[in-house]
Amino acid sequence: MSVRVPAKVNLQLSVGPLRDDGYHDLVSVFHAVSLFDELSAEPNEELAVRVEGASAEEVPADGDNLAARAARLLAERIGVHPGVLLRIRKAIPVAGGMAGGSADAAAALVACDRLWNAGLEPGELAELGAAIGSDVPFALLGATAVGLGRGERLSPVPVKGRFHWVFALAEGGLSTPAVYAECDRLRAAHGEWIGAPQVSERLTTALANGDAKELGSALANDLQPAAIMLRPSLRRTLTASRDLGALGALVSGSGPTCAFLAESDAHALDLAAALSDAGVARSIARAYGPVPGATVL
Ligand code: C5P
Repeated sequence: MSVRVPAKVNLQLSVGPLRDDGYHDLVSVFHAVSLFDELSAEPNEELAVRVEGASAEEVPADGDNLAARAARLLAERIGVHPGVLLRIRKAIPVAGGMAGGSADAAAALVACDRLWNAGLEPGELAELGAAIGSDVPFALLGATAVGLGRGERLSPVPVKGRFHWVFALAEGGLSTPAVYAECDRLRAAHGEWIGAPQVSERLTTALANGDAKELGSALANDLQPAAIMLRPSLRRTLTASRDLGALGALVSGSGPTCAFLAESDAHALDLAAALSDAGVARSIARAYGPVPGATVL
């Protein structure tokens, strides 16, 4: 049983005030892109995880792995022993702001649901996913969607055509809780009043019209100043991409991966080469979106 699951970039990430439960209310426009992890599930005596790929050693291969937690939660829910070996082939950057861990959890839910003939409805899988992490329901759904609440209450957003992206992967990850905490700290220091976030109509119109230029200028991430504060080198990466003609540039989620929007596939290729030459990232990846969520192969 093999499942392919995409990375995400947030086209809009508007962060409301800190809630009593430690989360923030969000308006998040998620967009699934063609950087995929692959997860396979096979019967095993115990629950075990093996991680392969370039950054495999950065991923916990024990019970803390989000895919393992997802498998355990599903097993509890349906009352089976979680006897499964999960093999994960990583292509999504680890702790990069592209929801790679959540993607693996989503893939594990889909794979184990099949393996154990559980037959849960998509909504039931999404509910289990939300208990693992705020981004897991979107990794199940894919395409482009607005996420409300802590990002788990999703509604699909219509998109015309395909958008082309270049991603600058950074050396080392950033901790999501640390970036949210830095965002709160910066806002408090500036005495900012934080209201309830709203979906950007300019952004959803650009998506519906397939207008990359408009989309580029509508991209927005409230976590970006915090990510830059914790990783000042990101400022150089973002500036370089604008100088090299990206239609838009932003930190992906809590970072440190940066996302650049290109006009076309050919432009993305040029932009990727120019960014690589500029030496502002550990590595460069190209992808397009939207793509479907976790899919059985
Ligand atoms: O839900 P998940 O485990 O992915 O969230 C990781 C951390 O990110 C949370 O513990 C919290 O600090 C922060 N977070 C938040 N508000 C959200 C989503 C995540 O503050 N809506």
